[in-house]
Amino acid sequence: MPLIAPSTLAADFANLQRDVEMINRSAADYIHVDIMDGRFVPNISFGLPVCAAVKRHATKPLDVHLMIVEPDKYLEDFRKAGADIITVHFETCPNLHRTLQRIKELGALASVAINPHTPVAFLSEVLGEVSQVLIMSVNPGFGGQSFIENTYRKVRELVELRADADVNFDIEVDGGVNGQNASLLIDAGVDVLVAGSFVFKSADPLAIINGLKNNSSS
Ligand code: DX5
Ligand code: ZN
Repeated sequence: MPLIAPSTLAADFANLQRDVEMINRSAADYIHVDIMDGRFVPNISFGLPVCAAVKRHATKPLDVHLMIVEPDKYLEDFRKAGADIITVHFETCPNLHRTLQRIKELGALASVAINPHTPVAFLSEVLGEVSQVLIMSVNPGFGGQSFIENTYRKVRELVELRADADVNFDIEVDGGVNGQNASLLIDAGVDVLVAGSFVFKSADPLAIINGLKNNSSS
């Protein structure tokens, strides 16, 4: 059964407490929090105070996705704002190994994300350092984009690399996840599904989360 991480980027920011409480009541496992700086990605979402506000109401771990340049400057702040898992982008970290050690020193789970253009093989030297690898299945910056089909192949490659390296981490996919691709992603070996629009633009988000969670990989 996959872990499900609804993305607050698609929530109603004027009713954030209500939407976080919906996730609390749901079958979801994490609350995905997208931080965008208008530099690494061409959009600004929200920052530390909103992350801390989500944390005040959340009963599930915060899966914080940092789409920002120079993430090292803010790791401690996001940890204090309640991040349980901290994801940094491979593309923003010239000293990735050090950044991952720092996340772990702060007591969070370390996670690394790759953009659609970045091969999974580029992560080979850090696979033993992470609890999670996030494969972007859209270009980061916006919710509601179309899923990139190459993602299935990247997931399968990462499953193989993980087995070859004899290490353990979760594989998370983020962007354009919906009822059509979820079961194919699970078949390919995904452990964690992030879903924004598919959950929050639906008339019954609880049912959507439940459906993703129980999507069998028969
Ligand atoms: C995109 C974000 C995603 C986004 C997913 O840059 O990282 O987490 O919220 O939204 P959907 O599921 O609508 O593609
Ligand atoms: Zn995200």
